[in-house]
Amino acid sequence: MTQTAPAVHLDPQDLARQMAVDVRAGLTATPKVLPPKYFYDGRGSELFDEITRLPEYYPTRAEWAILQEHADDVASVTGAPTLVELGSGTSEKTRLLLQALTRGGILERFVPFDVDPVVLREAAEAVTAELPGLVVAPEVGDFEKHLREVPRRPGQLVAFLGSTIGNLDPGQRAVFLADVRSLLGDHGWLLLGTDLVKAPERLEAAYDDAQGVTAEFNRNVLRVINRSLGADFDVDAFVHRAVWDPRHSWVEMRLVSQREQVVRLRDLDLEVPFAAGEEMRTEISTKFTREGVTEELAAAGLGVTHWWTDPAGDVALSLSRPLPS
Ligand code: AVJ
Repeated sequence: MTQTAPAVHLDPQDLARQMAVDVRAGLTATPKVLPPKYFYDGRGSELFDEITRLPEYYPTRAEWAILQEHADDVASVTGAPTLVELGSGTSEKTRLLLQALTRGGILERFVPFDVDPVVLREAAEAVTAELPGLVVAPEVGDFEKHLREVPRRPGQLVAFLGSTIGNLDPGQRAVFLADVRSLLGDHGWLLLGTDLVKAPERLEAAYDDAQGVTAEFNRNVLRVINRSLGADFDVDAFVHRAVWDPRHSWVEMRLVSQREQVVRLRDLDLEVPFAAGEEMRTEISTKFTREGVTEELAAAGLGVTHWWTDPAGDVALSLSRPLPS
């Protein structure tokens, strides 16, 4: 038995409290916003899974291709005894890394870190079945809040894949990367997945697919809020929109109110008026350049040692380590 009980940094109650605070702040702001972390209930995770297989949504396939090609390089360069994966979800792409690190004969421990204890348990079980010798030690937490509570094991490799870092704005990224830097100690490594700037048509298509799966994914956040906070969003009264914002270098997902309406959130004792045509931002998905990634990592005290892209140059994986101070 090499699976340890998960370390819990936030429980369902903390999560519910946090959601109430975030949703109140977002719906009373001008313009209105909702944080993207609430997309992922059961249905939301299924829809995201479907998104990763859409012809327009290249990032998942591209990152998979890079890992196929370079997982062994990551293993031989880092020689890491511990892999920590942030926002690990189902840990599917991580299997490639785990296998490579195991072939190198060095890996002892896998620490999947995610907000969702159910997803973590499933991932932990799948990995344990595949690699029975490995110690799997899950952590339940929010990577924007609880990284300081994760054990700092010498030489550990921290992986943050899927360009999830793109959901954070520049200020949030600076805080997050500083936390990662301290999690690495002096001899750790960060493997970071970032989507790259490309033609606006391709970016907008990736977030507004022909089959309407992304539109459903976006609108599903209203169902999550209805269920969790006793709200009465009329989901059909909101239309999905994706817009490339070159000034911020991010794709914005929005929900557009199709009519003037008032939404009630019983648990928040809040009424929220929407004008006809009013747009609410539900996600930013930042697109990076090599220079930009290198600068942000350097600002956090990390130096890039390797930069890999897929053959088309659509997405990148960077490997970095603490700079001498
Ligand atoms: C999981 C955050 C990386 O931003 O591309 C996919 C989420 N949103 N389609 C992304 C998402 C719309 C995805 N991340």
